[in-house]
Amino acid sequence: MTKYLPTLAAAAVDVLTSADPHQKVSKTYELAGNWRESDLALGQCRPPDRPSRPLLPRLCAPREMPKRSTGPKGRIALVHALAHIELNAIDLAWDIVARFTSEDLPPTFYDNWVTIAEEEAKHFEALQKLLVSWSTNYGDLPAHDGLWEAANATKDFLLARLALIPMTLEARGIDTTPTLVKRLRQAGDHQTANILDIIYEDEIGHLSIGVKWFKYLCKRYEKTPETEYRYLINRYFKGILKPPFNTEARAKAGMTLHYLRP
Ligand SMILES: [Fe+2]
Ligand SMILES: [Fe+2]
Repeated sequence: MTKYLPTLAAAAVDVLTSADPHQKVSKTYELAGNWRESDLALGQCRPPDRPSRPLLPRLCAPREMPKRSTGPKGRIALVHALAHIELNAIDLAWDIVARFTSEDLPPTFYDNWVTIAEEEAKHFEALQKLLVSWSTNYGDLPAHDGLWEAANATKDFLLARLALIPMTLEARGIDTTPTLVKRLRQAGDHQTANILDIIYEDEIGHLSIGVKWFKYLCKRYEKTPETEYRYLINRYFKGILKPPFNTEARAKAGMTLHYLRP
């Protein structure tokens, strides 16, 4: 029986405060279905500063992270790190839904982020199953907290959140995945490569949703998207925008090279 949750925002916060990854995933599927099939109101509910997470993996500094590679040992570290990113991505999507309910946005904004949350849950599940098939599990290795730091830096500013998360961090994944898939195939790991191919296509969709709403808000505030993006990255992004960029995939998502010009 479906549990009654009064609003989309309250249910999103319920997912954010669920520590167990399996619960986070199953609640995500249930909420996405409820949002599409019933007339759930958006409502208002302040999300937590940090989502609830299981006791493991231990969070550590990026330099302490196990080495990733496409060889047999590094592959577990690689898939574990990607699973961690996807679990963060589920929370990032629900955080946007719950945090930005007072921005006077059309319902399609929330439809889009509910779809993203659902796809991130599928990505996490696929990678977690892969780890289990290798007799390991999500939580067995340490992980780092960079994604949530970026979310925190932009917690009350939607335009900066869109610039930083989908348009910079998710876009970086799109830049690097094709090479990674190629290396995995060369090493004979078609199973991981096939999962990453699916994730790659979905992530181009997430980038295009990020770009679409970034442009929408820039129009509202009478800003030029490319200039505003560069300003926000300078102000909020701790790293540097590193080429090579996947210009073809980025262009497909509506993010032309003009955004990346110094
Ligand atoms: Fe994903
Ligand atoms: Fe994504």
